[in-house]
Amino acid sequence: MNGNLMVRVKEKQYGPISSTELRTMVRKGKFSPNDYVWNDSQEEWVKAQDIEAVRKLFQTAPLENTERKVIAIASGKGGVGKTVISASLGVGLSALGKEVILVDADFGGANLHTCMGILEPQYTFLDYYTMNRETLEDIVLDSPIDNLKLISGACGTLGMANPKFSQKQRLIGELKNLPADYVIMDLAAGSSFHVIDFFLSVDESIIVTTPEPMAIQESFDFIKLCLLRKLQQTFKNDQEALRLLNIEGDGNLIYFNQPLEDVVGKIKNSHPDIAQKVEQALSEFRPRLILNMVMEPDEIREGMSLKTAAFELLSVDLDYMGYVDYDDNMRQSAKSLRPFLLNNPNSPAARSIAKIITLKLFNQKHISAMMKKWQLRRKVYSQAQQYPTFEEKNNDIICSVKCFYWDECEFQNGGMPCRVRNLQPTMKF
Ligand SMILES: Nc1ncnc2c1ncn2[C@@H]1O[C@H](COP(=O)(O)OP(=O)(O)OP(=O)(O)O)[C@@H](O)[C@H]1O
Ligand SMILES: [Mg+2]
Repeated sequence: MNGNLMVRVKEKQYGPISSTELRTMVRKGKFSPNDYVWNDSQEEWVKAQDIEAVRKLFQTAPLENTERKVIAIASGKGGVGKTVISASLGVGLSALGKEVILVDADFGGANLHTCMGILEPQYTFLDYYTMNRETLEDIVLDSPIDNLKLISGACGTLGMANPKFSQKQRLIGELKNLPADYVIMDLAAGSSFHVIDFFLSVDESIIVTTPEPMAIQESFDFIKLCLLRKLQQTFKNDQEALRLLNIEGDGNLIYFNQPLEDVVGKIKNSHPDIAQKVEQALSEFRPRLILNMVMEPDEIREGMSLKTAAFELLSVDLDYMGYVDYDDNMRQSAKSLRPFLLNNPNSPAARSIAKIITLKLFNQKHISAMMKKWQLRRKVYSQAQQYPTFEEKNNDIICSVKCFYWDECEFQNGGMPCRVRNLQPTMKF
């Protein structure tokens, strides 16, 4: 196969492209055996499935898909920067050429779309849950940034804060099949079982916290509940194990306050099989940690107390990814509806985020990490030039006539700040 292929997909022509690019299109499901390749010698379009060399691409393509990752971003306490960090990781990864889909899974207070300069999302989760659109892929929206797409929760979907178990399962299954290298889920704050179930079912789970004691405490509780929920799932058919580990019933989990090591130590000799399964669950549960809004070096140490506590009390080995400095420009970029990374690519906070992406998500070291950081910064600069400008808003959440509550909303008045977080859910499934 030569390196200058012309291809046709649904009456649209692309090319010339290399065979590697065609392979990528195949891998991402953008080129099927029923699409066409231009045959120079015959001077006509030929179906891909009729060309042996192209047919081979379809056979080998799925093997290359191992990089695809679903990442969930959660926190115990609200307002610690999950949404800003989700958007920043998305912008950074897409600048490095990865296809990224950001998913606003904060059903109670969706605002990721405004971070991405999308004021009136054409489709939202509401369209998916009400079956107006059949699959998740149908509600994926383009963003103003290359390679970066979004699934919007949108204001007014508060009633979906508690999806049913079957809805959650369907959602998780579909998320894993979305055509992207990275799917990043921005979860709601707090320790509801819905959030925990999403957090436990993805490939990589990240906790964001600030260094203040209240946030650290709530992060610790979140990690504890996640671990105990995982153990409950591990032993769901073994009442005796649940009793011995003291994790029977959902309501009691928060009161679990003995070091896990001691609980397991007591039964290790009499029930080695249970101890071994706990060990296995612990080795599978390795959430990552980002410390946000750090103002001074001492706060890094305070934030790291979470890692120590998780290890000593829960035997959970948190993977510390790094910290992000406090930066007033974060709020400013939210107001101007521009992702922070585009607005201030040279700030210490943006540099910390670039470091987290290259060192921790890409696992690059030394020179190659530095090169990735340069690549990221170059691309972010060029994206910043192309990004549209918006009139500055004075609130992070923007009202929309598409809001579920629009007719009853006393704040609407053509764009007054939305208070949807203060409304009670009205939609039941
Ligand atoms: N590193 C930072 N420095 C300064 N301000 C920040 C930083 N990170 C986030 N912020 C600001 O803090 C506020 C909350 O951020 P964000 O909405 O991302 O938090 P969240 O955890 O998603 O909140 P919620 O739990 O309500 O969804 C925003 O105004 C944001 O601009
Ligand atoms: Mg948020």
